[in-house]
Amino acid sequence: MSDAQSQPAVPVAHEGWTPATGPDPVLRARRGLIGAPVSRLDGRLKVLGEARFAAEYVFEGMVYAALRYATIARGRISTLDTRAAEAAAGVVLVMTYRNAPRIRPAPAFLTGPKAFGGSTLPIMQDDSIHWNGEPVAVVLAATQEQADHAASLIEVAYSSSAPRTFGDAESDPRRPDHVLFRPTTVAVGDAEAALAGAPHSVDVVYRTPRHNHNAIEPHAVTVAWTEGDLVVHDSSQAVKPHAWTLAQVFGIDEDQVHVSSPHVGGGFGGKTVWSHHVLAAAAAKLAGRAVRLTLSREGVYRLVGGRTNTEQRVAIGAEDDGCFTALIHTGVSAITPYNVLAEPFTLPARIMYATGTLKADQLVADVDMLSNSFMRAPGEAVGTFALESAIDELAVELGLDPIELRIRNEPEKDPSTGLPFSSRQLVAAWRAGAARFGWARRKRPGESREGEWLIGMGCASATYPHQRFPGARAGITLDRTGHATVRVAAGDMGMGTSTTQTIITAERLGLPLDQVTVAYGDSSFPGTFQAGASAQTVTIAAAVIAAQRELVAQLLKLAGEESLLAGLTADEIGCRDEGLCELADPSRWESYVRILERAGHDEVSVVASAADPDEMKAHSMHSFGAVFCEVRVNEVTGETRVDRVVGSYDCGRILNPKTAASQLRGGIIMGIGLALMEETAFDERTGRIMNPSLTEYHLPVHLDVPRIEVSWTDVPDPLAPAGARGVGEIGITGVAAAIANAIHNATGRRVRNLPITLDKVL
Ligand code: MOS
Repeated sequence: MSDAQSQPAVPVAHEGWTPATGPDPVLRARRGLIGAPVSRLDGRLKVLGEARFAAEYVFEGMVYAALRYATIARGRISTLDTRAAEAAAGVVLVMTYRNAPRIRPAPAFLTGPKAFGGSTLPIMQDDSIHWNGEPVAVVLAATQEQADHAASLIEVAYSSSAPRTFGDAESDPRRPDHVLFRPTTVAVGDAEAALAGAPHSVDVVYRTPRHNHNAIEPHAVTVAWTEGDLVVHDSSQAVKPHAWTLAQVFGIDEDQVHVSSPHVGGGFGGKTVWSHHVLAAAAAKLAGRAVRLTLSREGVYRLVGGRTNTEQRVAIGAEDDGCFTALIHTGVSAITPYNVLAEPFTLPARIMYATGTLKADQLVADVDMLSNSFMRAPGEAVGTFALESAIDELAVELGLDPIELRIRNEPEKDPSTGLPFSSRQLVAAWRAGAARFGWARRKRPGESREGEWLIGMGCASATYPHQRFPGARAGITLDRTGHATVRVAAGDMGMGTSTTQTIITAERLGLPLDQVTVAYGDSSFPGTFQAGASAQTVTIAAAVIAAQRELVAQLLKLAGEESLLAGLTADEIGCRDEGLCELADPSRWESYVRILERAGHDEVSVVASAADPDEMKAHSMHSFGAVFCEVRVNEVTGETRVDRVVGSYDCGRILNPKTAASQLRGGIIMGIGLALMEETAFDERTGRIMNPSLTEYHLPVHLDVPRIEVSWTDVPDPLAPAGARGVGEIGITGVAAAIANAIHNATGRRVRNLPITLDKVL
């Protein structure tokens, strides 16, 4: 933590944030929790093994599920013989399309406020096959081993038709699609003409492969039907959307589905509603038994979509001084007809640089595969690889320092919308990071070596949008011991969400940390949240701020005429030292305990809604960063080692430097995997994922991870709740380009296809 600035540089920002009207009533005098490094409050439970995960809940009479996966990408089931499985020891039920309950499609993620389905394909409803790996049978048995064995006894044959593949002109009809509900195309001026007339230019194509999710905790559900209601112990990024989505599938009321997911062993965009949820609940209904369905690691690859592949063109035209006259980012990604996420890789190009003309445009190609989905910084993670590699290529062409080139093209306003930025401290991040990293010591390609290792330095910009979602509500109950319990239907996948909200609540109520409990991960709690889009912290914070204001108003009413505070309005009241006080004269103070005792109340409870996220309408709100790395590349073997990484970020106010630093470091580590290792081996002929295991799908391990320093501007965003923008996803962005650019600086080789394996460097 020595690298992180743990003290806020300027007075607390969230006082300036006015969710409704009028000044924020938090007392300015009491400070200290926000910006202090606090360890995760759930960490102890996890370390002691006391945190229960989805596959550790037990229902009475529960049976275990095993799946059988299709081995073709497109076609029909021609033979399906389940007799041997049904006769096997311990088997309770074999479910196939023949006997599965009729269900409705899961509304796809992003198509509604609570829609969270990975795919709209109705699962196991007929004999047709849509992806290689689609489940064709569920076996329920008394033990997991009996279920697994019986599933292996099912005889399946298929009549197969040729799958649509990526890059095959005949079967790959490309079509426009929205880019996360933004326009497909952004055009400012005639960028192609400006490019053609530019004195300096680059015009290159980059490719990135498919990636699969590999959270430590594989997906699992334990489900039971109780009097028509569905109870789900889940590993979920969004409990309320999971409940709503499953209610749509089974045609029941949202309130009839109860999703609980207090602990999640990693998510990264993959812990949404997939077919294991639907199949477990359908089989439980059919069998009249509670069911646990735990996906094997292979099962996660077969059933849970990951990041799709991209082919990206970046072209930049520049004057002699480096100023851009044209910036073009176009390309195509594979998608299915059953989901809505065109990997939005052109988003960074829309906001990063001042340019005379701009064109961003992406197409999708329908492929017969498992629906692709969200994976940490969908779009930006791979989009910054292309864009920031191309900037480096242009810097070489111009003979300019790549940081100087970026700073010369720093925009004053959002280049695609013309909106002002709420706060953009990217140049400050660049300068601070360059000094910390020692960028001035960088040499030319081939000039720095140690034995057979060539050494290079590279850098790239990072960026991720600020987002805040509507529908946020929070409950606070303050009891007669002065303990506050917050309830939010939010999720904590290990990021520190609950810890950070404990800090925010304690700060706003003037309570010590141990007098605040944040209850989360249960769909019956208030509000709609998702642990996604780096938006959850501010989305909850806005609701907690609203609930705290409501709590103050209620307490003031209870305080009554005998109180020292009698006669004051709620707007004149703040919180300090476990009580209310007058903002103008903090010595006029009364403790919460005394107010409740005098009123004869055991507790006071409020629920309040956050203000709508209007701050994003008139401003362009984004986080930024500058990533630096040093690599060594072995001249003989082509092997690349990352020796150190420095990330210098501008994410608004940092609420908890300990968990924020972990998020940024974790993102950077995932970026190292993106750059050098991660690749789903997808057989384009058969649509089969060939490496569905951690032995063949390579991720960074400890020995691959160097010293990573992260720091931040800590400049509060005046428009964001608590002054904070998200930190969950920006860490992965820019890293692949920084590494590719460092490899170029070491060797003179430019690799444009991820991952940068040794065969591509040699
Ligand atoms: Mo993130 S890809 O929104 O979990």
